[in-house]
Formats: sequence, structure tokens, C-alpha cells
Amino acid sequence: MPKKTPKIDELNVLEAAADMADLARQIAHHDAAYHQKDAPEISDAAYDALRNRYRALLVAFPHLAPVNDPEQRVGVAPAAGFTKVAHVVPMLSLANAFSDDDVAEFATRIRRFLNLPENETLEFVAEPKIDGLSCSLRYEQGALVVAATRGDGTTGENITANIMTMKDVPKKLTAPFPDSVEIRGEIYMNRDDFIKLNKQREASGEQIFANPRNAAAGSVRQLDSTITASRPLKFFGYALGERVTGDAEQQALRKTIAHWGFKLNEPSRLCKTVDDILDYYHDIESKRHALPFDIDGVVYKLNRFDWQERLGFVSRSPRWAIAHKFAAEQAETKLNNIHIQVGRTGALTPVAELEPVTVGGVVVSRATLHNEDEIARKDIRVGDIVRIQRAGDVIPQVIGVDEKRRAKNSTPFVMPTHCPECGSLAIREEGMAVRRCTGGLICPAQAVEHLRHFTSRTAFNIEGFGEQRVHELWQDKIIQSPADIFRLKNHRATLETREGWGEKSVEKLLAAIEARRTISLDRFIYALGIRQVGEATAKLLARHYHSLDAWRDAMVAAQDTESAARHDLESIDQIGALMARDIVGFFAEPHNIQVLDDLASELTIESHQKPDTHNSPLAGKTIVFTGTLETMSRAEAKAKAENLGAKVAGSVSAKTDYVVVGADAGSKADKARALGVNVLDEHKWAALLATL
Ligand code: IVH
Repeated sequence: MPKKTPKIDELNVLEAAADMADLARQIAHHDAAYHQKDAPEISDAAYDALRNRYRALLVAFPHLAPVNDPEQRVGVAPAAGFTKVAHVVPMLSLANAFSDDDVAEFATRIRRFLNLPENETLEFVAEPKIDGLSCSLRYEQGALVVAATRGDGTTGENITANIMTMKDVPKKLTAPFPDSVEIRGEIYMNRDDFIKLNKQREASGEQIFANPRNAAAGSVRQLDSTITASRPLKFFGYALGERVTGDAEQQALRKTIAHWGFKLNEPSRLCKTVDDILDYYHDIESKRHALPFDIDGVVYKLNRFDWQERLGFVSRSPRWAIAHKFAAEQAETKLNNIHIQVGRTGALTPVAELEPVTVGGVVVSRATLHNEDEIARKDIRVGDIVRIQRAGDVIPQVIGVDEKRRAKNSTPFVMPTHCPECGSLAIREEGMAVRRCTGGLICPAQAVEHLRHFTSRTAFNIEGFGEQRVHELWQDKIIQSPADIFRLKNHRATLETREGWGEKSVEKLLAAIEARRTISLDRFIYALGIRQVGEATAKLLARHYHSLDAWRDAMVAAQDTESAARHDLESIDQIGALMARDIVGFFAEPHNIQVLDDLASELTIESHQKPDTHNSPLAGKTIVFTGTLETMSRAEAKAKAENLGAKVAGSVSAKTDYVVVGADAGSKADKARALGVNVLDEHKWAALLATL
């Protein structure tokens, strides 16, 4: 079988950057399809493969995180129509393991982070991973008061009325219970119920659901709760929002949740070794089809809560839990065509249009082919019979071609040399995997995608400005550059007479635009769509430069690669030389400066406010750790310090406030003393933390 994608260590930086940007775009697209439209286009396995490759690239090239870094985001924003619920504790996701080695590494990572000796037993609660949608249930004095979806992890949709119709969700908890408690769990549908529901829908001419997960999600997100009531939804409880019970372990909490009246994910097992865990995994995998519901893997959670708390989270998932996924299912089908999509940065992405085929009960018809090298490597040709792969869910990845069944007159696929959207030359720079349209903003795909990025939820968040409207206004030359959006009110009269617009919707759109005339610096930076500058990087820049003027002046000065400004930019943790080049490159284009000035004249850009850690003596301090710490790992120490508002640096300078010295510390400790920097031994450091 031909190789899927190039090995990460064989990629040069430019290829990696292109690959990551491409993956980020695909992930965002599939997140929206899955979470917002309840209509996924690819299988969970294919999605996981995208995310895994992205994550692996991010580990190898942390400074290349692109615009819209998917690791900084969970799911997508709530859909319109439901009121919003802010989660007191964010509802995050789980990292995935695909092999026995991944699981062993997960346990090792925990051991290392907690600094535990080899002979210390790590207990894990193993549970099936239900393929449903997560839900938060808030009980006050034992009575259900609010139910919410996960949404983007921070804010979900208020689905209380719908959840009230579910038999599996107790409206009152069995005493004793805390005054206020939030139970989290999974809403799902049994396989038999799903098949029955689809049969009914088919008979009445309604669209059928792709799988039980979509059926459950579609049923929960009904504005009319009588529809939800008619659907056979079920619920498993598996976690709390805030820890408000006296339970010290996951296993004990399961009992408490069951006592309150919830069903639990079963069959579960308390495992004491990695072998135990893997034994459970294989056992469940073999029983998987006998379970009444679909599962896409199993979840392992570290049993002790005190350890869970110390481990905390890394970006969007806990360090103390992992989802171990089942292997993918495969099928063969015909590749009818290869369609070329053009993205915001002009990247041409080939997409496979497949003869619809059923894989494990789900019909699939599209898959991404990544880029031309990928197609060449697998020698994928239009008309070929291709092997596709999916796991517990929807569509696939093309994993190979059956060359024996290839038509005699077939020819290798040739990537177009011109953009299918605007006809401009599409070129592939030396060392790049991606071919890009050179049309820039004359290319409708790029211009529109650029404006769409600008107005998107994570950037300016202007509601009512979907692709179609942006496209229309761009084509009619009403909006050519981002600042034009803020001058749209001058076109009110013409807008109102446009077909499909009308007074009310124009009013709404203009109000939404006005509401965004004031914006935080980080969002503003992100909205500019500078290559490689995702939300996380935009935040770093805002935090570092504080105001637009300061940033702008610094970036202009940083055009000189030897300048102090350039050096300062490159020394921001997680930025580095390559990203700096792209950021500075943006300011080298007079066209971009024009866009920036134009926007600045329309907007109020709020300077960055320092986070409220004023009670913390570590706020704003720079700390360096050196030597081996005994009570905690370096990672834990770093996470703690950062949570208290400190910056953790790798090397000692006169700007360092504290150096924490563990055993066998070397030159850094000496240098700190020589510079007169505060040096703390581990005990003093621990004592300092204890006072906070
Ligand atoms: S624990 C911090 N346990 O899988 C997240 N999640 O991929 C803790 N899920 O968002 C979640 N079965 O919606 C947990 N037994 C189980 C689960 C489970 C399904 C879902 C849940 C979560 C997603 C992560």
C-alpha cells in the first residue's frame, strides 16, 4: 500500500507550515460540519487522523501554529436560536490514543508530571466512549434548573426545555446532594432506536440521519421540545463541573452519580496497570457490536482527584484522561472526480468526489486528498477504484488505489496550473507542498475567504455576514477591503432594495457591525489574517505589545533583521524566527499598511489589559527553573507559575526575577547569583506557593 503522508521529520519548515495551515483549515471546516450542522462529511477516524497529524506537526514545529490553530479551540460557537449558557468550568475534550504505545506513553507522562516512583500504582477508571454529545446539567437544591450543550467549550446552548423531556435525566436528585451541582455526561441514542427512527423518517420523506450521534444531536437541538420528547434519547453521567462532593476518586464519584439517579457508562473497570487497561480495551472491542449503543473507543481516567487537579489541562484536554479509539473500517468505491477548492491564502486543495458507498452503515461521498504530492504518491487517478477508511462514524480518507482495476486509458492526475476561481496562475514555491493562486485579492475565493475570516466568530464576530452576503458585496464592489465593512452604513438605501435583504435584515446587519467598532487588540490582530498568526499567537502579540501603535511601530522597526525590535519579536516565547518573518512581512506590504490605517480610522482598538493576578506576588515576574526538582516535575512547576501570572523563561538574564534551583543545577544558578537575581531553592519555592 502506498505511503499516506510524508513523515514529519522529512518535512522542511515551509512544507510543514503549508501542511499545518491546510490541516487547520480542514479541521475548522469539519468542526463546523459536525457541531453546527450535525452533518459530518468525514469519519471520526479521518478527522482524528487530521488532528493527529496536526498535533504531531505542532510538536515538531510549535512556532508554525497557523491562523485558526485548532488546538486552541473546542467545537464551535453555539447556533443561533437557543439562549447561551456560560460554563463555570470549561467543557473540554479528550486527547486520543490509537495504539498500545500511545496508552503506555500516556501513563508515563502522568508518572513523570507527578514525579511518581515506578512502584507507585496508578489506578485508572476505564469506561466505554459513547458516541453522543456532551451535556451539562445544573441542579440547585436537588432540582434540575439548567441543561446546556458543550458549544465552544466556554459557552453552550440552553437546552433545558428539551432535556426536561428525557426520561434518563432525573428532574430531582436522590438525597443527599450538594446545594448546587453540575453533572456532565453524554446524550446518545441506542442503535435499534436509531434504525427505527430513520425508517420512520424515510417513510415520511424526511431526510435520514447519518448515524446515532447525529440523530441524538439533531433531536436535542430542536426549538420545539415536543419533537425532542418524541425521540428515544438516553443519558449517561460521568463527571462533575466543579468538584462539590467529598469523593476523593473517580470511582467513588461514579457511585454518587448513580445514587442521585443517573445511569453510568458500562461496562467499566478499575485498572491498576497498563496491561489491565489494554486487556479492558480488547475485551470491549470484541464486545462492541453486542452493546446496544455505538462506541468509538474507551476512555481512561486517572482515579485520584488530587492527582487530576495537579495534572490539570493542556490546551483543550486534561492530562489525566485519554480516549483510546478503535481502528477504522474500510471500503472500496470509484473516484468520480477531483474537485479543486481555493482557500483564503490561495491554497488549492484537491477534494475527492466519490461514488457514494456505505462503510459500516454510513454513506460517504467526499474526502480530502490534501495536496498534489499526496495524489502523486498514491497515484490516484480520476476513475480509479479507491480504498477508503472510516471508524465509528461517517466519511473517509482515501488510503490507496487498486491499480489492477484501473482503466487502460487512465492518465495520472495533473494539478491545474491556473486557479479554477479566477484563472490566475497558480504556482508552487520551491519546497512547498501547496500550490497557490497568485491572484491575491482579485481572486474571489481569496478575497471572500479573507473577508469571511475577518468577520468570523473568532475574529470580528459580525453576525449575519455569511459567505453569500460577503460574496455578493465583494462582487458588486461595495466591500473591497475590511474597512469597507464599517462604511457599509453609507449604502443603507441600496442595500435595502437588494433582493433577499430587506429593511429589517439590513438594520440588523448594520447594528451588528456597529457593535463591533470597538475590539480587543488580540482579536484585531487575529482578524488581519496574517499568515501563521492564529488566535494564540495574536494573544501573545497583544500581551507583548499592549497597543496597536506600539505593535505597529515595533513591526516597522523590525523590518531590519538586525534591529532590537526584531530580536524582541523573535524572543517572545512560541514565536521564533519564521513566524516573525511572516509577521514582519505583512508590514512590508504597503497594501497591508493601507488596510491597517484604514481600519484604525474606523475602529476603537482596545489596548491589552494585564490579567487580574494582582493578588499574586508572581504576576508579571520572570522565572527560570533549573536543575531537577524533587516535589514536582518541570512541567508542573511551569504550569503553576504561569497560572499565577508569571512568565517562565529558559535562560537567565538581568531581567529574570527568580531562579528556582533544584538538585544538580549548573551554570544557570551561578549566572543568577552573579547577576544578583533572587535564587530560591525548591523548599523556598514550595513555601512561596503555599502562601498563595
Ligand atoms: S470524560 C474533559 N467519559 O467524548 C472531558 N467523556 O472526546 C472529560 N465522551 O467531550 C470527558 N464518553 O462528550 C468522558 N466515558 C466518557 C465519555 C466521554 C464519551 C465524550 C465527551 C467528551 C468527548 C471527548
